[in-house]
Order: sequence, then C-alpha cells, then structure tokens
Amino acid sequence: MRILLTGGSGLYGHYFLRQNPDPARLKVTAITRRATALPAASHSVPMPSVGDGDVWRVLLHHHRPDVVVNAAAIGDVDMVAREPDAARAVNVDLPLNLLALSHEMGYQFIHFSSNAVYGGDEAPYAETAPHAPCHTYGAMKSQVDLALREAADRTLIFRPTVGYGWPPAGARANPLSGALQHLHAGRTIRQVVDQFENPVFAEDVAAVLWQAILRGYTGELNVGGGDAHLSRHQWISSVAELFGLPASLVHTARMADFETVVPRPRDTTFDCTRLQRDFDWALCSVIDGARRMRDAGSSAG
Ligand SMILES: NC(=O)c1ccc[n+]([C@@H]2O[C@H](COP(=O)([O-])OP(=O)(O)OC[C@H]3O[C@@H](n4cnc5c(N)ncnc54)[C@H](OP(=O)(O)O)[C@@H]3O)[C@@H](O)[C@H]2O)c1
Repeated sequence: MRILLTGGSGLYGHYFLRQNPDPARLKVTAITRRATALPAASHSVPMPSVGDGDVWRVLLHHHRPDVVVNAAAIGDVDMVAREPDAARAVNVDLPLNLLALSHEMGYQFIHFSSNAVYGGDEAPYAETAPHAPCHTYGAMKSQVDLALREAADRTLIFRPTVGYGWPPAGARANPLSGALQHLHAGRTIRQVVDQFENPVFAEDVAAVLWQAILRGYTGELNVGGGDAHLSRHQWISSVAELFGLPASLVHTARMADFETVVPRPRDTTFDCTRLQRDFDWALCSVIDGARRMRDAGSSAG
C-alpha cells in the first residue's frame, strides 16, 4: 500500500511514521518542508508550495498513492487569528486541493480535523454534533470538514482532540511537554481551571490512524482519551509528579486571565462511543498516558 503523508515533522505525523506496523508492505512517503526532522529511515519528498496546484497534481500522479493523509496545518490558534491568509492556504486550500485530486485519482483522503470545530457549551461531542467554532482556526477546520462530508465514502475526517507526547525536534510544544519544560526549570506555571477536554496520547492517535488505514475506514472519527471534562490544571498537576516534578509549581488561572490570547471553547470533551465500538478501543487516561510517555523516554521524540 502506498501512503503519502503531510505534516510528518509534527506531533501526530511523527508518531504515525514511527509506528508503521509493517514498513515493508506499508510504504509511506512524507511530503515535508523538514526532512531532517522526520524519524530515521523515513522516505520523503520536499513539500511544494501549498498554492501550486499543478505541482501537487504532478507529484501525486507520480506517486499514485492509495491513501493520502493530511496532517499539515498551522495549529497555533493565536497565529491563525493574526495571519488568517497565510493560515488559510495551509489549513483550507491545501486540504481542499487534496480532496479535489482524490476525486480525480481515486485515493482515500484522510484529513486531520480538530476539537476546535465545536463550540464548547454542549460537551461531550460525538461526530454528529453540530459545529460552532469560536475562533478562526476552528472555522477553517470546520469548512474543510463540511466539504469532506460530501465525499464520505472515500474520505475520513480524522478528528483527534488535544494531544500530548514528546514533540519532535523543532515542533511546537503541546500542553504537557511545554509544562514539563517549565517545571524542569523550576518555574511556576499557570494552568486554567475553566477549560476542559479529554486529552489523548499521540501514540494512541497514531495507532488508531493505522488501524483506520488498514481497514479502509471512512466517514468521521473523534479520537480522545479517557478523562472526560478534565481541566488543564487538573491534567498538568495530576501528572507532574510522575515526572518527578512538584505539582505545587502548577498554579491556577482562568481563561480570562490571558487577555491577549484568542478565547478557546470552554469544554470540547469528545464522546468516543464510535471509536470504542468500531475499533474495540480502550480509552487511556492522562495518568496512564503520561506513564507510558515517561517510560518511553524523551529520546522517543
Ligand atoms: N496537536 C493537537 O493537539 C491537535 C489537536 C487537534 C487537531 N490537531 C490537528 O492535527 C494535525 C496535526 O497536528 P500536530 O499538532 O501534529 O501539528 P504540528 O506539530 O503543529 O505540525 C504540523 C505540521 O504541518 C506542517 N506545516 C506547518 N506549517 C506549515 C506551513 N506554513 N506550510 C506547510 N506545512 C506546514 C509541518 O510539517 P512539515 O514540516 O513536515 O512540512 C508541521 O510539522 C493538524 O491538522 C492539527 O490541526 C492537532
């Protein structure tokens, strides 16, 4: 099976590349701007400009993929609000182009969506819940999802919630890895008590994605972890000590205290019934996920 992947140097893409269950049979080529940041022995080609549709068409015709996985995005919500045009090129135009090419070439198109498509006042969110994004990044994700729903027989809207794990070199920090860095340096951090989710370990996101590919799974799938309605403060303070770090450095804050950042949805906890049913999947708690992350060691990133 031939698989093309964008975003291979990001958190989820990197775990996906590392966890290939059968590299001899499942040939993944990463389309990337940073080949040096990929796991060792990854196959890659340079990423064309996202706006150059003709070059993408030639590239895809050359590789004749069975599956295209789009994990590339500008995921920094505040940056997307500041620079919406640049973000739209990556977050909307690129996936819509890959969707259009999937019609032409017949590959399965898997696109990473986000918990940011939801409004935050009606958790838990199943795949059928209405979208009500409260910022530009969420609106961009929602726009692409709605287009993919028109081709649900050969696309997958793959929607992880907030993830954690060891970020690859040069990738942006995730809530846990960023907090650990500060705590290691002995700095106090402020974590909000009024934003909630069920965070998911990136290793599990990758494992579910591989299963989905192997089964030709299509439609829409919400992928979260085992702790419903967990606040950022509960999350970080409950796992700090697993890494030998003092929970006392994790102070409380409220979203309104961070005046310069774009307001986030209050609670985007996922209803993971479909994931558990269709994949016979046991949801992992942040405690168990952090333990696995710790035991794997930061060299895993
Ligand atoms: N992390 C989360 O908590 C989370 C939660 C919900 C949804 N998601 C979604 O899951 C997907 C993967 O997220 P992630 O956190 O793994 O991403 P990430 O670490 O932010 O990495 C995204 C990748 O996108 C590519 N990229 C970034 N800016 C680009 C640009 N201007 N032009 C072209 N490519 C660019 C880069 O790949 P290369 O350098 O290899 O080209 C980058 O490594 C995204 O669609 C994201 O929206 C993430």
